[in-house]
Amino acid sequence: MKKNIIITGGAGFIGSHVVRLFVNNYPEYKIINLDKLTYAGNLENLKDIEKADNYVFEKVDIVKKEEVELLFEKYPVDGVVHLAAESHVDRSITNPNEFIMTNVIGTANLLNAVVKQWKGNTDGKMFYHISTDEVYGSLDKGGFFIESTPYDPRSPYSASKASSDHLVRAYHNTYKIPVIISNCSNNYGPNQFPEKLIPLAFNNIKNKKTIPVYGKGENIRDWLFVIDHARAIDVIFHKGTPGETYNIGGNNEWKNIDLIRLLCRIMDSKLNRSSGESEKLISFVTDRAGHDLRYAIDSNKLQKELGWKPSVTFEEGLGKTVDWYLMNEEWLQNVVSGDYGAYYERQYKSR
Ligand code: NAD
Ligand code: TYD
Repeated sequence: MKKNIIITGGAGFIGSHVVRLFVNNYPEYKIINLDKLTYAGNLENLKDIEKADNYVFEKVDIVKKEEVELLFEKYPVDGVVHLAAESHVDRSITNPNEFIMTNVIGTANLLNAVVKQWKGNTDGKMFYHISTDEVYGSLDKGGFFIESTPYDPRSPYSASKASSDHLVRAYHNTYKIPVIISNCSNNYGPNQFPEKLIPLAFNNIKNKKTIPVYGKGENIRDWLFVIDHARAIDVIFHKGTPGETYNIGGNNEWKNIDLIRLLCRIMDSKLNRSSGESEKLISFVTDRAGHDLRYAIDSNKLQKELGWKPSVTFEEGLGKTVDWYLMNEEWLQNVVSGDYGAYYERQYKSR
């Protein structure tokens, strides 16, 4: 009997890399990709593995309790890796309720289904919740986020993720279900939706459109290649201690403006443009409301206890990412041909 592992949000950016890794590495699992297919969910991300024997897709909205319950009636579930979420801070500022529904209520619906099914028998079971470093707030005065850093979420997105983390820990304490949480820094890599900084800038540079940099471009993020995040999720799911939290990060801090300049240089070289041509597209625009200044992760616990470390440098990862977007023009075209134009108009016209 194969073990049934549900991966939620498996059609999204990070989720699709996790699904691929699990499908390829664990023939003894049946991987159930649970996804609602919002604007961010794209089954094209999984074309290469969609016919695998140990893979199945289930279209489910985690906000709809009945849909979640039906899925759990269909499968005896051994593990859940929970990535489904609304994930973009700017969208959370214009539409916080959607974030509260998906990230908080959706997580509660999954936890309730697990408690109901696992009651009395949690041997070999695991509910693994994927969270973000943004729950810890903003590091304006230096230092790093460690696993015990107090929560201080400052956007509707991070507050909804913090709420879901609290629910997961509360269910562990109250109902004794085995849980693990990991909090990761900013991801980049193939298949990221071009609302996030790096693919949005890529798309604009390619099309010679202005690159909107919020404020003065001084905000700092700690960037991790998505495949290294998926590798960390694999290690934590299989070797992590139930009840524990692990921080994941690449020890790779960049000021937004420096990152954009690096991306411009890489693209000038790959597109045979003259040096400095793409940088001219940089445009400083109105800052994001409540914009967190700096995130930086201390991932020593994960590195020391579970032996994980990033596999690529930032320059390598960014180069691979640019190559992927250049080679997958059709993917990007399909993604931006839908509601993206209207979103872009709304988001950037008044900045
Ligand atoms: P994404 O927006 O690319 O993908 C989210 C996926 O969840 C999509 O496939 C979407 O269809 C699905 N989804 C959304 N609402 C749903 C619902 N109601 N029911 C079922 N499925 C639904 O997100 P991502 O960047 O891949 O992030 C995945 C997870 O990792 C999120 O939980 C996010 O908070 C976390 N995370 C992301 C980053 C990052 O830099 N992107 C960093 C740390 C943690
Ligand atoms: P983003 O990719 O949205 O991730 P997050 O807000 O979760 O960190 O943004 C990364 C950084 O880039 C953040 O400081 C906001 C900034 N940013 C811009 O300057 N311009 C943009 O168009 C976007 C989308 C982000």
